Amino acid sequence: MKTTLKIIKGTGLFVILFLFILSIVVFAKKDRTFDAPYPAIQAVYDSAVIARGKELVYGAAHCAHCHAPVSQLDAIERGEIVPLAGGHIFDIPPAKIYTPNITSDKETGIGAWPDSVIARSLRYGVGHAGSALVDFMPFQHLSDADLTAVISYLKTVPPVKNKVPATEWKLLGTVLKALVIEPTGPTIEIPKHVAPGATVEYGKYLAESVANCRGCHTERDLKTGKYIGTPYAGGFHMPCEVNPALEVVTPNITSDAQTGKLANWTEDDFLQRFRKGKVIHESTMPWGPFSRLADDDLRAIYRFLKTVPPVTNDPGPVLVSVK
Ligand code: HEC
Ligand code: HEC
Repeated sequence: MKTTLKIIKGTGLFVILFLFILSIVVFAKKDRTFDAPYPAIQAVYDSAVIARGKELVYGAAHCAHCHAPVSQLDAIERGEIVPLAGGHIFDIPPAKIYTPNITSDKETGIGAWPDSVIARSLRYGVGHAGSALVDFMPFQHLSDADLTAVISYLKTVPPVKNKVPATEWKLLGTVLKALVIEPTGPTIEIPKHVAPGATVEYGKYLAESVANCRGCHTERDLKTGKYIGTPYAGGFHMPCEVNPALEVVTPNITSDAQTGKLANWTEDDFLQRFRKGKVIHESTMPWGPFSRLADDDLRAIYRFLKTVPPVTNDPGPVLVSVK
């Protein structure tokens, strides 16, 4: 009896000591910053480059989907050029994130940031103040040409004054930020330019480095953003933007005969499905921007997806109630 009590007391002390040390470490490291190089990217005033930037921002890269409030989603789906004034809320286990204002306003937007700072954020996942960005954006391998185009376009958009609240870190998030969350940087050599066209190579580039097909259609841990499933096999559970009572689950988009969406779709079926736009209102997929992609872009994506090894994985229904 006495020894049991002693052990319990001992364990209790150990737990208290552990929590004490953990909280000191978390407190010391919660605002840690990271180093990353500043890419030699500079905005240019060339109308063709700016047009390419706009096409990416409101199309394949769907910046507007995330950098405008949820109340604007229907307008974005319809193709309206809404201001990129931020304020889209992502309420995930580590934090409540309000996307930043990325218009050229100097106080509340990114108008005062040098081009190389914006480029570093997108390429290295290290934010303007040095902290690790939560891994929402897949642009680490965006080509030099496309990164230049995006930033060149952003420089031309009129400033919109809109002060967006800072990220509200939850307890779990504060611990993860101190100990786990690190910037996601490039893992391959960055291309200078990837030639558009209906090729597998361009399709892979769009699917992985621009349109985020892989980022949503692969199972990930919402706490850390880490990939835990097989690429394109679906099963990523994410909060529903328009109905907080629901979670949206991504389907398997490999060509697996039983469980893959692409098993029986021809290239033309794929194009037709994309032209139709959003069917499930609660879907988080930026169907509107994708519905306006060029035929060759969609063909490229299809041709690439057809090279992805089929994976048997049935993620179940698309909409489920939050547990
Ligand atoms: C899937 C949603 C999503 C998409 C798409 C997206 N962003 Fe973001 N972006 C975010 C979130 C969330 C943050 C804040 C991350 C953080 O603070 O940890 C952010 C932050 C930023 C920042 C600020 C980084 C810093 O240094 O603080 C810039 C600039 C930015 N995004 C530009 C863009 C551009 C340009 C595009 C399109 C090419 C884009 N974003 C597409 C979600 C998105
Ligand atoms: C922000 C997350 C997100 C992104 C990015 C995304 N998807 Fe999806 N996708 C979903 C969700 C959620 C669904 C299920 C709901 C629906 O069908 O709209 C879905 C459904 C699909 C479907 C099945 C449609 C049907 O009618 O059954 C296909 C095919 C698909 N996505 C392909 C893609 C491709 C290709 C890309 C990249 C160009 C992509 N997705 C990017 C979230 C995403």
